[in-house]
Amino acid sequence: MLASRGAEIHGLTGFFAILDSVGRSHVRSLRDFTGSVRISPVPGTCVIGLQWGDEAKGKLVDILTENHEIVVRYAGGSNAGHTVVSGGQTWKLSLIPSGILRDGVACVVTGGVVLDPASVIGEIDGLESRGVTVAGKLRISDRAHVVFPWHVAEDRLLNASVAGGEAIGTTGRGIGPCYRDKVGRALAIRLGDLYRADFRSKVEHIVGIKNRMLAAWQTADGGPEPLDAADIHARYAAHAERLRPFVTDTTAFLLDAVEAGSKLLFEGAQGAMLDIDHGTFPYVTSSNSSGLGVSSGSGVPGRWVNRVIGVVKAYSTRVGGGPLPTEQDNATGQRLRDRGNEYGTVTRRPRRCGWFDAVATRYTARLSGVDELAVMLLDVLGGFDAINICTAYEIDGRRVTQFPSHVDDLKRAVPVYETLPGWPDELTTVRDYGSLPTNARRYLDRIGELLGRPVSIVSVGPDRDQTIFIDRTGSTPCPKPKSRTPATT
Ligand code: GDP
Ligand code: IMO
Ligand code: MG
Repeated sequence: MLASRGAEIHGLTGFFAILDSVGRSHVRSLRDFTGSVRISPVPGTCVIGLQWGDEAKGKLVDILTENHEIVVRYAGGSNAGHTVVSGGQTWKLSLIPSGILRDGVACVVTGGVVLDPASVIGEIDGLESRGVTVAGKLRISDRAHVVFPWHVAEDRLLNASVAGGEAIGTTGRGIGPCYRDKVGRALAIRLGDLYRADFRSKVEHIVGIKNRMLAAWQTADGGPEPLDAADIHARYAAHAERLRPFVTDTTAFLLDAVEAGSKLLFEGAQGAMLDIDHGTFPYVTSSNSSGLGVSSGSGVPGRWVNRVIGVVKAYSTRVGGGPLPTEQDNATGQRLRDRGNEYGTVTRRPRRCGWFDAVATRYTARLSGVDELAVMLLDVLGGFDAINICTAYEIDGRRVTQFPSHVDDLKRAVPVYETLPGWPDELTTVRDYGSLPTNARRYLDRIGELLGRPVSIVSVGPDRDQTIFIDRTGSTPCPKPKSRTPATT
């Protein structure tokens, strides 16, 4: 699967040498057996959030795009909000991969994504109005399931009462209901269906059923107005025309690209703790947001993804319901929120904040086959006298380091902390690992030790420039930007 090859990795150079040799052996064996297929040695890098989302994946993807030709979004929908800051400009992206800000890069929204057409059109217009070229760079899968007004209505009606208890606190973007219809099949519409002759009759059929369902779900406070099939059809037909130049079979495009030796970068949305199968169910999103979703969402077999970067914040945040074991619902949490500007990109809800949780992130790093770590927002921890890392949970008096599979156990988990000394310094101007305060390096090293992976990238501010690439061997690490001019500066 996502390749953690089991080899001991001494710095990134050694790591890439291993990948090269692994890749070459693939090439050899494919040629031997088929005589025709050619696969490049290292085609795929993947960026996965290891917490509850908002780990600054967008910033990292924007930087790594320099060394890739195609950036691929494989899951989620307009619940995602990715912020990229460069040259004093801030970009907020949701469905379009963060790679769009660079010239000469193809961006792909695959069939694993649930697509709200109005939302993606708004993004395209917003980017183009600021001088970013989207036409010719963006491809959207005809297999992507489409978010309709009934999905948004269902999301808003059901969110409050789910699981009979605490609300999931969804983003209200219709994500769960759209994925539910995808799996249910009978009431689903994919982007490619919008261009077929029976699109109108499909909408009429589904609206008839959805209006009866929505009426049954109404509460004493009322509910949404009945849906109007003709109006919805007219709006979505117009959206379809607008999106026509972008819609294609992205699976075929990506498989061709892999065989042509293109370098692919997969952009995770949400975080692995929100994975529908392996996260803190039911307080999760409705897709495989861990590394496990890459190949089902994109159609690219996992064996071609051979560099997996796990992204973490230097502390924990969560937006919405569900347990956050290390949450600091106190002055410490407020300080993290203030320093980290922890308010949701999509909904502006205040994010819940707490200490770094090594039990949760070790689990998600293993789950996603992570090779190396990027630790983001390290600057936010400046000025704390002492910093806690959760290294185990106590559940009913028992100490555990394995992440609980049932959310009720997680709700009772009391974090066991290791306390490290803090550092008074501001880190935002530091640009190399050696110039970080000793205690900041100690903190990073401890995270790497606890998660069993080296920290190779550190972020000390939102800007592209505020990034440190760690070279533990004295030789050049991979992601140093090349000279290609960013489209946005
Ligand atoms: P994503 O959803 O994982 O792409 O993350 P978001 O963009 O939703 O949230 C991350 C936030 O942190 C954004 O506002 C970024 O601009 C900001 N950010 C990224 N890296 C850093 C950093 O190193 N330090 C600080 N202070 N902010 C950062
Ligand atoms: P990015 O890509 C943080 C959370 C919601 C809610 C739960 C389910 O920016 O990291 P949904 O609308 O998906 O049904 O909501 O998942 N959530 C996110 N939290 N970052 C995200 O995306 C999120 N996408 C969904 O807050 O708790
Ligand atoms: Mg976000």
